[in-house]
Amino acid sequence: MTSPDPAWLPASAFRPLGSRRVRVVGDGPLVTTVRDEVAAAVAGHGGALVEDGPVDLELVCAGGDGSEAFTVERAGTTAVRATGGAGLLYGFHHVVRLGEAAFGADFPVEHHAPRRPVRMLDHWDNTEVHPVMGQVERGYAGDSIFYADGRVRDDLSRVAAYARLLGSIGVNRVGLNNVNVHRAEARLLTDLLPDVVRLAEVFRPHGIRVHLSVSFAAPVTLGGLPTADPLDPGVRRWWDRATADVYAAIPDFGGYVVKADSEGQPGPFAYGRTHADGANLLARALAPFGGTVFWRAFVYDHHQDWRDRTTDRARAAHDHFAPLDGAFDPNVVLQVKYGPMDFQAREPVSPVIAAMPRTRLAVELQVTQEYTGQQKHVCHLVPQWREILRFPLAGDAVGDLVDGVVAVSNVGRDRFWTGHPLAQANLFGFGRLAWDDRLAPEAVLDEWIGLTFDDPAVREPLHELMDGSWHTYERYTAPLGVGFMVNPAGHYGPAVDGYEYSRWGTYHFADRDGVGVDRTRATGTGFTGQYPAPWRDVYESLETCPDELLLFFHHVPYDHVLRSGTTVVQHIYDTHFAGVEEVARMVEVWAELEGRVPDAVHARVEELLAEQLRCATEWRDQVNTYFFRKSGVPDARGRRIH
Ligand code: GCU
Repeated sequence: MTSPDPAWLPASAFRPLGSRRVRVVGDGPLVTTVRDEVAAAVAGHGGALVEDGPVDLELVCAGGDGSEAFTVERAGTTAVRATGGAGLLYGFHHVVRLGEAAFGADFPVEHHAPRRPVRMLDHWDNTEVHPVMGQVERGYAGDSIFYADGRVRDDLSRVAAYARLLGSIGVNRVGLNNVNVHRAEARLLTDLLPDVVRLAEVFRPHGIRVHLSVSFAAPVTLGGLPTADPLDPGVRRWWDRATADVYAAIPDFGGYVVKADSEGQPGPFAYGRTHADGANLLARALAPFGGTVFWRAFVYDHHQDWRDRTTDRARAAHDHFAPLDGAFDPNVVLQVKYGPMDFQAREPVSPVIAAMPRTRLAVELQVTQEYTGQQKHVCHLVPQWREILRFPLAGDAVGDLVDGVVAVSNVGRDRFWTGHPLAQANLFGFGRLAWDDRLAPEAVLDEWIGLTFDDPAVREPLHELMDGSWHTYERYTAPLGVGFMVNPAGHYGPAVDGYEYSRWGTYHFADRDGVGVDRTRATGTGFTGQYPAPWRDVYESLETCPDELLLFFHHVPYDHVLRSGTTVVQHIYDTHFAGVEEVARMVEVWAELEGRVPDAVHARVEELLAEQLRCATEWRDQVNTYFFRKSGVPDARGRRIH
């Protein structure tokens, strides 16, 4: 296999540091990682790794306390100081990102520390290839980098390159297998454990702890017990023993990830127990070793009837979990999707995040672009994540209410890691925002461009192409907070009624008079009542509900006038026309970059932009035609709608 794309760590990114004299002081595995990085950089760029004498850069690790913080300052010499190896590694990459600026004018001491301890990527990888889903569930970048033929790959060089990329952006935990745990993958916990040990060894030098998704039914399916009841002593003993075995093999194992009683996965409900009973069972097995259980809040009834408007999937997570606040052990982290539905291009922030002050929470994002173009479309999601994490949900912003930010990764065996080469920026940006959600999305993209591409002339066109691409995607797919107008098979491309009468509870309720879901307390499902003030009232009222979420919260007639002054149906037409025009402009901007980015990158993106334009046009035509025919209202600007 050809060596993988260097992504944001090409040799050129190390030129400023690698052409200078550098000293690394300290011991320990992560300091060794930094020393090896410096050695490779200076070997490539003519600098020197020295023990004594004057230097341009000094990287000092004073101890081994596990701290992730570092300081950086410049007074003639640039100095990075940390008390833990992880801090030194992060400080080293900070200097790499600064580039020449790290060695320019003096600057006073700056303190850097992550804003939260948990920065995690989950991989929905299966050990085997699934006939319909492929190997990576919702993966758009080829097969798993971890597994082949039912076990961990022999050659883990690609995993090592990936671990290095993640370490450089501060990701400190990874989940190694799909949250839907099939029979084969359940065995990672038991007889395939030696394989997991090999993965842990590859991640460890980059400050990353590994996690396994486990099946709640494992005591039955793997252990042969008659029950998986969380209160059964035999079940407890089974988990205690299995967990002790994992820690004997992987002393820094991070813990478990669990999808329980959700979309067919087993869970505590079968035994009349609660999610807290289930989570605490695993938490207590992990606690003696310092492990954590990430228990997912994505629980809802997936056997709904569209005629029954009282069941609202958006309510489900709060209905299930808010009453359990305070019942979870301290080493449980409840992992809550950012919105109440499922990773749509636009959703309100999940009210669960404000409802559980006595529970440790993590917010879950989707770097893999399941509903946002599947890495065929340019959809730069960092602005969306920034908006979510800084949303003032309960006085405090979402980012301040959670201990962790978790996301589903977007990588695979693809030569560019992510299918679409520009989707690398989403992976990079996830790590940077998980570290500090106050960073401006444009600044994060700027870092990515600066590291990835050598030619400074690409900076401006790439910003033009990517900065607003999430809004463009929203425009040609699902404006005003309507979601799920996708093909049920695969979730790619438009099918306005694709999910409309299905059992999954994802309806828009368009009829001849209007569209949208009434989630008000006054006349609808009452979902608005799950929000704290002021949002419960902001969303309840047609006067104050923001346009971009109007149809998420309200069912309105097509001639309802938005806060923007346009009617709902005209807004649908306008945004769909505009979205396609914006994609056509992306194609032009990219054409200008030929010769300025590597040829293979140019060719791949060019090909994918053609597909994006085709697909955006299809979205425009399907959606506009659907609403024209339903409503009978013509386009005020007389454009062609079929
Ligand atoms: C979505 C996705 C599934 C996934 C699920 C989850 O529904 O389509 O593939 O299993 O989310 O987050 O568990």
